[in-house]
Formats: sequence, structure tokens, C-alpha cells
Amino acid sequence: MNSNIKLLVALIIAVYVNAEYISYKDYKVFKLVPKTEEDVDIIKNIHQENKHIFWSDMIKVGSDVRIMVKPDEGNDFENYAESVGLNAKLIIQNVQSLIDAQLKRPIERDSQQYNWDHYQTLEEIYDWLDKIAEQHPDVVTIIDIGRSVEGREIKGVKIDFKKKANPVIGFFEGGLHAREWISPVTLTWIINEFLNSKDRKVRELAENVVWHIVPVTNPDGYKYSFTDNRMWRKNRNTANFTSCAQWNLDDDMSNGFDLNRNFGYLWMATGASQNPCTQNFAGPVAFSEPESIAIANYILGLQREGNLVYYMGFHSYSQMILIPYSHVKGADVLEVANYGDLFEIAIKGGEKLKERHNTIYSVGTSADILYEVAGSGFDWVKGSAKVPLVFLFELRDVGEYGFLLPPEQIIPNNEEVMDALVEMDRVSRQIGYY
Ligand SMILES: *[C@@H]1O[C@H](CO)[C@@H](O)[C@H](O)[C@H]1NC(C)=O
Ligand SMILES: [Zn+2]
Repeated sequence: MNSNIKLLVALIIAVYVNAEYISYKDYKVFKLVPKTEEDVDIIKNIHQENKHIFWSDMIKVGSDVRIMVKPDEGNDFENYAESVGLNAKLIIQNVQSLIDAQLKRPIERDSQQYNWDHYQTLEEIYDWLDKIAEQHPDVVTIIDIGRSVEGREIKGVKIDFKKKANPVIGFFEGGLHAREWISPVTLTWIINEFLNSKDRKVRELAENVVWHIVPVTNPDGYKYSFTDNRMWRKNRNTANFTSCAQWNLDDDMSNGFDLNRNFGYLWMATGASQNPCTQNFAGPVAFSEPESIAIANYILGLQREGNLVYYMGFHSYSQMILIPYSHVKGADVLEVANYGDLFEIAIKGGEKLKERHNTIYSVGTSADILYEVAGSGFDWVKGSAKVPLVFLFELRDVGEYGFLLPPEQIIPNNEEVMDALVEMDRVSRQIGYY
């Protein structure tokens, strides 16, 4: 490495590891598996104390629960778990080391190159979108669907190869939750494949549909998760700022609304909160947030431009393809008239996905396989906008690294998701959706 490059690397590291960034040095993650309902209650009590950060929202018999513990509280936590008959297994020694791995930049890199071996900042993504729009002027148009709370553009691309009247349209939404970094980097990959892949099936998918893809629908939160707090999930609306001390939380927790609980379909019905100090604070009313309004208005606009067939949201983690509605389970899933089709499309997509790297996805409604939720974006798109084919991907992994998925997994994740999308489109066409 020559000294200029060394200096550059040092500068880049200095930018990313700035003093304000909340450090998770020596934070530990323990895994517990509740074996009885009694264990579940004990863990729910730990959850309520808010002393530790839960990596898992789902607490049920037989499911792993991962809990992040502050550096000086590891022993107490282990002892407490033992005293109540739970076995706490230490699975991550130092959370910050995983974050550092995610923030690492490629060392020797021509700055013009764009790669998927690292997580991309908001600026990198936006600059790259501009660049590909310049490179493919006949096909790519920049779309700007609105402004965030802090006034940032919510930017994406429209990819239109055929320029037909009344086209089949698809919308991909990424980065609605800030810390789910694998989501935007999946969508930039898909954009790149749509433009450059030579694979016949990818070409068909790219060219049959007019794609509108917004990799980062929550730009303020996404940026904040790079500059201030890696575990940030919500947007950055400070309108309900309040003390969170009584919940044992930092007050900054109240500076954000959960965009995926803010949409106006069964808003606040279940799995959402009116407490600004929670991760799933739904806001004072449905559609209080400019980011959720921007998405909804854009979707309604697309329906006037053509046949909006697809809406897919990309989140992490859990390895699931979720089907609306998120509050229904068992026989009630049939509330969605084409649930059978959605299920078949998702199952086939999941089977195809598995062929690539043997990654296993499960399929169902959130209430069936994750937890009950209402007010989410994709439920609104199905329930209010009545788009036919609506899915939500929960990308890698199942919790081993969670949001801190190592960058080596980006490309394998992207490849398998692309396979799933191609297959889901094939099945959708076979059923006759377009
Ligand atoms: C949040 O702020 C809005 C607007 O000021 C207000 O109407 C609402 O009551 C607040 N909600 C909470 C939970 O503080
Ligand atoms: Zn999410």
C-alpha cells in the first residue's frame, strides 16, 4: 500500500469511527431458549425492564431469544439467568467488532467503482443512482418520491426498457427501517442486475415490468445509523421528544417514529405502540410522517400510470417471505382474497432461493410466523391500495448476526433473492397476473 492510500484509509476510518458514534464495544449477546411458558414469562419480564437490548421481538417456547448486554453487566446477567433456571449462552463477545466489520471500506479501490463487498452509505447510494441514470439515459430516470422529516430527498430509480403505454409496474421499497442495512444493498444489486445482467431470465424480469425502486425510504434514519447509532430503526422525527428515563432508556429513543407502523390500514390495531420511547411507536395518527405519506402517494400515482402489479418491501432479518395481512393467522389469512396465489408464489420463490446457497426462508403472514403487526406499509398497499401481488422479504439471517450481518454475506444474499424474484415472477405470470 502506498502512503497516499494509507492516509486515505486512515481518513476514511476517522470519518466513520467518529466520537459521537455510540460505541457497542464489549457489549455481549447471549442466546436463551425458553423451554416452558414459565421461561417465556421470565424472559418477558427481563424484556420489560429495558435494561438490555433485545435482538428478538418474538419470545415463545422453542425459539431463540438474543439479548444484548452492556459490558459490565454480562456476569450479572449470566448469574441471574442461571438462578431462574435458564441457560444463557454467550454468542457474541464484542458487538462493536461486528459493527466495525460492517463499516470497513475496501482498501484499494478506484473511487469510480461500485461494489457489493461493503455496506453503502446514503451518499454512496444516491451518487451511484445519479451515475447510472447518466449512463443509461434511455432506460433509467431518477425518481424523487418526497422529502424526509429532516428534508432529505427520498430518491430512487425508474427502470423502463420498453416505454409502452399502460405498462405492468412494480415497486420495491427498501430501508424503511434504518438499521436493516442489508435491505438497501439488496436493492442496489437488483437495480444493477436489471441494467446489466446477461441472464435471460433476469432480462425478462427487468424488461417485462417498469420498475420503480427506492433503496432507502427512511434516509434520515439510515444516515443516523451510520453516524450516530448503529441500532437505530425509526425515522428521526423529534416532535414527540420526551424523557424515556422511566423506561430505563436514553431520551433519544423518543426522537423517531416507526414508519412501518404509521400507515393507514388498521393503524394501531395490534403490534404497535403510542409510547414514543418504543421501537414501534406508530405516531400520533396514521400517516403523520412524510416518509409514509410519500410512499403511499407514490403508489396511488403509479396506479394511475399503469397496471401496478407488484409491491415488495425489503427488511431484515428472519429469512421470510411475508404475505399480508400481518395481523391475521390460521384460517383468517383467507381475508386476503388471493392468499392462495400469494402463498404459492412465495413458496416457489423460497424453494428457488434455497437452491443457490441452501438458505431456508419460511413463508406466511407475520402473525403466523413472526408476530402480529398492523399499520405496516405493505399491509396498506394490499388493504387500501389493493395492489394484487404484495410481499415483504425479511432478508438474512435468522439472528446469528442479525442486523450486523457480515459484509461477506451481502453478495450471496443478493444472488439468492434475485433467484427468488425471477421465480416469483414466473409463477405470477403462469397464474395470469399479467
Ligand atoms: C405527539 O405529538 C403530537 C403533535 O404535537 C401530539 O398531538 C401527540 O399527542 C403526541 N403524542 C405523544 C404520545 O406524545
Ligand atoms: Zn424492518
